[in-house]
Amino acid sequence: MTPPPALHLSGQAKIGDTPIFGPLVMEAPAGQWTCLLGPSGVGKSTLLRLFAGLGDEVTFEGTFGAGDGAPLEGRVALMAQGDLLMPWLDVTANVTLGARLRGAEVARDRALGILDWVGLSDHAAKRPDELSGGQRQRVALARTLMEDRPVVLLDEPFSALDARSRARMQDLSAELLAGRTVLHVTHDVAEAARLGQVVLVMTGDGMSMAEPPCAQVPRTYDAPGTLAFQGALLRQLMEAQ
Ligand SMILES: Nc1ncnc2c1ncn2[C@@H]1O[C@H](COP(=O)(O)OP(=O)(O)OP(=O)(O)O)[C@@H](O)[C@H]1O
Ligand SMILES: [Mg+2]
Repeated sequence: MTPPPALHLSGQAKIGDTPIFGPLVMEAPAGQWTCLLGPSGVGKSTLLRLFAGLGDEVTFEGTFGAGDGAPLEGRVALMAQGDLLMPWLDVTANVTLGARLRGAEVARDRALGILDWVGLSDHAAKRPDELSGGQRQRVALARTLMEDRPVVLLDEPFSALDARSRARMQDLSAELLAGRTVLHVTHDVAEAARLGQVVLVMTGDGMSMAEPPCAQVPRTYDAPGTLAFQGALLRQLMEAQ
């Protein structure tokens, strides 16, 4: 895998004549886990879609891309908001979809290993409509982990999970994605306080940075520093425009 690049964006986005976000400046450092918080509709998913090369409907005035100057194409895995699983494929086929679409060899053992990590070994042969919402979300996470890219974009990846599964998936993802450039959109201040090496807050006024505790990620969920940061983040969101 090539060294993970930083991500940067500076400018504003529109769809048709409608302003979507910006002008704003965003930096996500190379090889670190950046959490992005912000009110619904502020443009977080649109920003991720731009980095994933999926923003055809978006007119972006400015610059965005990788800090090393090389194209992002082929270096990014996106776990989109909403699981986007193929309903006619079973879980294993959904997890290996990327390789099959590229005509590459399917690493079935690796897929089964990842399904085991996300606790879905017993469901490998089921179709998405036979799974719960949280299980489907874990299939989508498994598919993203399967892609093995240096840049990983996660759009509310754990939103459908119960508290215990969520903490487990946070731990697992932090371990498996350590050293990659991760940009993780979440509405959960507790999640950002556990996982964010950098924490950004996006509002209609632009992008601001919150100062996370220096404890290593994933931080202990009930450590005083984690809880205090969680509270400070919520206060920042409450006081934002
Ligand atoms: N394809 C589209 N055409 C027109 N407007 C769109 C399109 N996609 C998104 N928008 C608008 O762009 C704005 C930002 O949407 P986006 O999905 O990026 O927000 P978000 O910050 O991810 O919100 P949430 O937290 O609810 O997921 C919204 O007002 C939305 O209605
Ligand atoms: Mg969104």
